[in-house]
Amino acid sequence: MGGTCALVLAAGKGERFGGATGKLWQPVGGIPVLVWTLRAFQTHPEIDHIVLVGQETDLPRLPQMVREFSKIASVVQGGRERWESVRFGLEAVPPQDDWVLVHDAARAAVSAQLISRVLHAARETGAALPALSLPDTVKWVDPENIVRETIPRERRANGETWRMMAVQTPQGFAANVLRRAYEQYDFSKGTPTDDAMVVEALHPVTVVPGDPQNIKLTYPEDLARLEAILLAAGETRTGFGYDVHPFAERRRLVLGGIEIPAPRGLAGHSDADAVLHAITDALLGAAGMDDIGTLFPDTDPAYRHADSAELLRQAWAQVRERGWNLVNVDVTVLAETPRLRPHVPAMRQRIASVLQTEPDRVNIKATTNERMGFIGREEGIACVAVATLRR
Ligand code: CTP
Ligand code: MG
Repeated sequence: MGGTCALVLAAGKGERFGGATGKLWQPVGGIPVLVWTLRAFQTHPEIDHIVLVGQETDLPRLPQMVREFSKIASVVQGGRERWESVRFGLEAVPPQDDWVLVHDAARAAVSAQLISRVLHAARETGAALPALSLPDTVKWVDPENIVRETIPRERRANGETWRMMAVQTPQGFAANVLRRAYEQYDFSKGTPTDDAMVVEALHPVTVVPGDPQNIKLTYPEDLARLEAILLAAGETRTGFGYDVHPFAERRRLVLGGIEIPAPRGLAGHSDADAVLHAITDALLGAAGMDDIGTLFPDTDPAYRHADSAELLRQAWAQVRERGWNLVNVDVTVLAETPRLRPHVPAMRQRIASVLQTEPDRVNIKATTNERMGFIGREEGIACVAVATLRR
């Protein structure tokens, strides 16, 4: 199965929103609306590439986005109408991507679950979109503000009842279906207002549940609502890590990223820093990213005598890349000897600096094993860690 590309449309003029800044550059919690949108796709594990379609006047400031978001494969200039922007964007979709999600940049509160829902349905059926049933009655109104007609919310057709629904983005398609649809559509018969409209005649489009929070920033009054949704949203996850190493003669003892004076050190392929290994696994675990051995295989000579602080730094960079921030990490070291208590402040300081956080988010406790088991017999040292992440 080929890759998946998100086509993010940011080339509109935002006329209904008005103002000089442009709606996609409005800050929400200090971050532009467009950046919120890009983050949703950058941090989604099933998205391989992003093609960003921008307005000509915005193009000078978009390279900054490319630096910030590694998945952006290209930035292209949009067209006068939304469908023209999609066309230009489609040309830039990497050929290895078999799936395309077309998304309005103005829907900055798109959730990871919604992206997955649309993508999975699209992979199954070739075309899918999220939709909500309409709570309001819809009417045609003339320029004098007189109601001319009411649109029935339900309709009998083919002996079935059809419901009226309001559709959102992202809309997901097999890349070849979407390309063919845009080639064949007769744009002279009127402007399509979404992508499914272009595809409908060619291929059935499946509906999945939309998300009421996935609002489109259209009018100035939408901004407060978007802000409330974005700033309230957030996900917290917890991960667990465990590591153990046997004592060995003629080895330095490295724990928590610092060297501790001791007659023996710990045996291992790397520097055998059980504390940093447990922390790395806890962080990777919380982010759903397997474990330290998968990231840095000990069969790879590159990691022989590896500095575990450097491995932690690299793992943490990958976790952060997915949008996670550290809430805290808590560690217990199980060691009969040496006495670790005096070294705890230095370990916390060192780990906090590797994780680029404050030392009070990195807690370390040490305990003996009351002379029981392999730890009690001073055969080795074990360490457990719990990490909490938020994004
Ligand atoms: N869009 C685009 N190219 C266009 C028109 C729209 O890429 N020629 C994008 C917009 O940037 C937006 C999405 O399509 O993210 C949905 O369009 P809409 O909400 O209508 O935004 P604007 O067209 O910018 O706003 P308005 O219609 O009020 O001018
Ligand atoms: Mg528009």
